[in-house]
Amino acid sequence: MSQVMATPIHIPVLLNETVEALAVQPGGRYIDCTLGGGGHADAILGHSSPGGQLLGIDADPEAVKVARVTLEAYSGSTLLVNENFVNLQAICIKYDFFPVHGILFDLGLSSLQLNSDSRGFSFQHDAPLDMRLSPSQRTTAADIINTSSESELAYLIKTYGEEGHSHQVAHSIVQERPIKTTLQLARTIEQAIGSRRGRIHPATRTFQALRIAVNHELEHLKAALKQAIDLLGFRGRLVVISYHSLEDRIVKQVMQQESRDCICPSSTPICVCGHRACLRLITRRVITPSPEEIEFNPRSRSAKLRVAERITTWDEQYKTVEKLCFLTEVKANGWRRPVLLKKLQGLFQHA
Ligand SMILES: C[S@@+](CC[C@H](N)C(=O)[O-])C[C@H]1O[C@@H](n2cnc3c(N)ncnc32)[C@H](O)[C@@H]1O
Repeated sequence: MSQVMATPIHIPVLLNETVEALAVQPGGRYIDCTLGGGGHADAILGHSSPGGQLLGIDADPEAVKVARVTLEAYSGSTLLVNENFVNLQAICIKYDFFPVHGILFDLGLSSLQLNSDSRGFSFQHDAPLDMRLSPSQRTTAADIINTSSESELAYLIKTYGEEGHSHQVAHSIVQERPIKTTLQLARTIEQAIGSRRGRIHPATRTFQALRIAVNHELEHLKAALKQAIDLLGFRGRLVVISYHSLEDRIVKQVMQQESRDCICPSSTPICVCGHRACLRLITRRVITPSPEEIEFNPRSRSAKLRVAERITTWDEQYKTVEKLCFLTEVKANGWRRPVLLKKLQGLFQHA
């Protein structure tokens, strides 16, 4: 068995709900921005055949390798790229893969990453404090832990980890430095704020904070969601599964804002923003895993799925064209406004 095949598998979360939320149809074109082990991508390709196409993206080169094996049967209809989804629009333009019928973000980490004994994402394994999704990134978790000031650490742990004892944790880290491994960090946190509180380990929030900071997760998510909306054809679906409240808040805000015709403050007597809705919320409430799914796959317990559908007018399409035509990748492809417009209209007719 090859090393890739021997990797522990990732169980896709809310699988049926995701396929349904994406309204996957035969012949459709989809983007999976977070390939992971390729579980969701496999189901999307299965439901979109014959004729379906999928662009799969993951920042982690190991994930792309694993997904390539999982999706081998669909190699003729998949394009898998090792990239960060913060560059979503540029990637789609480079590969001429837009507009699409659906875009999926299944955020966070896969079991392949969490179970790895060398990536440093989990305090279940002793490993160097790395936490980078991609080896091409410069800053590791160890860099942040060992070079930030105490107040910077406290701020980061509070903001990204929502840790109530951020000052004690930051103080202990600074006393204990240099900290090089996951277990050394977990022990330091335990010494600062005591052992297990309720169901979660005391290091959970600090590890989450570090991972978010190392990978700029929240900034990248915000930027990518906005880009995703522009890549959807008429009635294309945007589906996002998040695993903690900071991510879910961003998804909720973007979807709610983009589904409103006016975003002026409530104190403004008449609309001055001119904002027009380009999404329709499909579910007002989040979709969560059933008790059976949580029992079968405990890692699904914090999952929240939100779904919205692209609505667009001719005016909106012209605006999208105006935005896209200034991108370097669009210029590199030699596309001018009429070509872009034709591409967007292609899916209009299809829908
Ligand atoms: C929860 S897993 C996805 C699992 C996948 N849906 C499956 O069924 O196997 C999340 C994946 O997203 C990737 N990821 C997280 N942030 C990313 C980003 N900014 N750009 C690209 N990939 C990212 C991670 O490397 C990880 O492989």
